Amino acid sequence: MNAPAAGSRHVVLVGMMGVGKSTVGRALARAMDRPFRDSDDEIVARTGRSVAEIFAADGEPAFRAVETDVMADLLDRDEPSVIAAAGGAVLAEATRQRLRRAGTVVWLSAPVQTLVDRTASGAHRPALADDPAGTLTRLSAERDALYAEVADLRIDATDSVDVVVDAVLAALVEGADR
Ligand code: S3P
Repeated sequence: MNAPAAGSRHVVLVGMMGVGKSTVGRALARAMDRPFRDSDDEIVARTGRSVAEIFAADGEPAFRAVETDVMADLLDRDEPSVIAAAGGAVLAEATRQRLRRAGTVVWLSAPVQTLVDRTASGAHRPALADDPAGTLTRLSAERDALYAEVADLRIDATDSVDVVVDAVLAALVEGADR
């Protein structure tokens, strides 16, 4: 299909851990014929260490500093891409400001129980080592206002990847028509 809307801007997916940003982002990038970038993957490529290693050895503030640099780098690139921004990327004010300028920001959201189910596997989320349900509930409550602040679109991501990708594409086209 023709790449809808977004034009020369990035499409950036934000939202909680486990909502499906990377899976949806990869499929969306294919549908839009654009490169896909994932902030966690870029951090691993840049540092040569896993997200869990950075959290454990250097602490969360150090991880956030690298994440802010990586987001700046991804958003500043000229080639329009689809970017999956890790759940905590919006915590940095500098990233929130950049997001407003650099692209169409899509907030993928889902009920906490869906996030709990989807994060049951995967080692790059040290914050969920203990009490994932409680942590996801607390972090959602803390971050929803930040996702809302940066988002141009909010898409329910409870359904299958194909349904969510179609919903994002339709919303992008609608946004372009307005
Ligand atoms: C985090 C989300 C994770 C990863 C790290 C911290 C967060 O990425 O960056 O575990 O604080 O929300 P995903 O959103 O891709 O799971």
